[in-house]
Amino acid sequence: MRVLVSGGAGYIGSHTVVQLVAAGHEVLVVDSFANAKPAVVGRLETLTGAAIPVHAFDLTDHEKTERLFAQEPIDAVVHFAGLKAVGESVQRPLDYYENNLESTFSLVRAMRRHGCGLLVFSSSATVYGDHAPVPYVEDYEPLSASSPYGRTKVMIEQVLRDVAHIDEGLRVALLRYFNPVGAHPSGTIGEDPQGVPNNLMPFVAQVAVGRRERLEVFGGDYPTADGTCERDYIHVEDLAAGHVAALSWIATHDRRVSTWNLGGGRGTSVLQLVAAFERASGRTIPYAIVGRRAGDLPAFWADPTLAREELGWQTTRTVEEMCADTWRWQRANPQGYPD
Ligand code: UFG
Repeated sequence: MRVLVSGGAGYIGSHTVVQLVAAGHEVLVVDSFANAKPAVVGRLETLTGAAIPVHAFDLTDHEKTERLFAQEPIDAVVHFAGLKAVGESVQRPLDYYENNLESTFSLVRAMRRHGCGLLVFSSSATVYGDHAPVPYVEDYEPLSASSPYGRTKVMIEQVLRDVAHIDEGLRVALLRYFNPVGAHPSGTIGEDPQGVPNNLMPFVAQVAVGRRERLEVFGGDYPTADGTCERDYIHVEDLAAGHVAALSWIATHDRRVSTWNLGGGRGTSVLQLVAAFERASGRTIPYAIVGRRAGDLPAFWADPTLAREELGWQTTRTVEEMCADTWRWQRANPQGYPD
């Protein structure tokens, strides 16, 4: 298929581009480069051996979106593009609602006008809110989230369900990611956060490589085995494979909306992750336990049964491999991608 990847220059998008090409798809990318560097494109072309046409604009621009679909045959869209920093979304709610919702409206309108009926959407485990029993199961309701970022995911899921309800030509996959980490085993593409990393793994990697002095562990008094929060870390290569599997499933089945958790089904604590990273890198990660971060849940992980049964997909990479691959990328690219 000819697949448009929105946000294809970003962290998860770039890894998915590589696997879509490997699965035989022809890929084109649209990315605003608001949170990605153009240098990733050359690396994707080297890794895939394919030309990856890139359209550099923001999908909130309806006219450019329409023109893209008018010019290019597109069979399917994998929609990653969006703002994604939880803390920033609290400070800039209008930017988050406007960008994440408007880009989706613009994309889905263009898809409908041009008869493109396959959409894979990047959702998040954050839609399970604060009260869902762990492990999280896809049919849990009501969905809710504790940040504007998370609420854009809840809202977009609902928008897509509503549109699919009246559009018999649309097949939508809502993929709820748990905690994506790791990098391509080549070490040539990986996560490159701008500024101070919000997430644990890139912060740990930057401490290991000497860019930051020490990690602050947010909270040591949670009701977990070692007192630190537990999360379901998933290797970005497993996550990318989940997208390829979801796309091929919706292309061959009639259900209009499918929701799948993409997680491993196990929790790993902050301190367990730090210890695994120390083993993988041979570096010491200095850390201090500080106060809790507002909004963090003590522990959650996926029930990955549905994706395994329907997609035949499951995670295969261990926390050790997540750390080793993150480290290979960080060591080879201590400052991330060049400007
Ligand atoms: N943590 C630290 N120190 C840091 C960064 C994180 O101790 O410097 C801890 C957090 O407190 C948390 C764990 O590491 O306990 C994981 O934190 P991340 O920020 O890496 O991941 P979250 O689970 O908080 O965030 C993820 C996704 C978001 C999503 C959110 C919803 O990245 O997209 O889950 O809970 F919105």
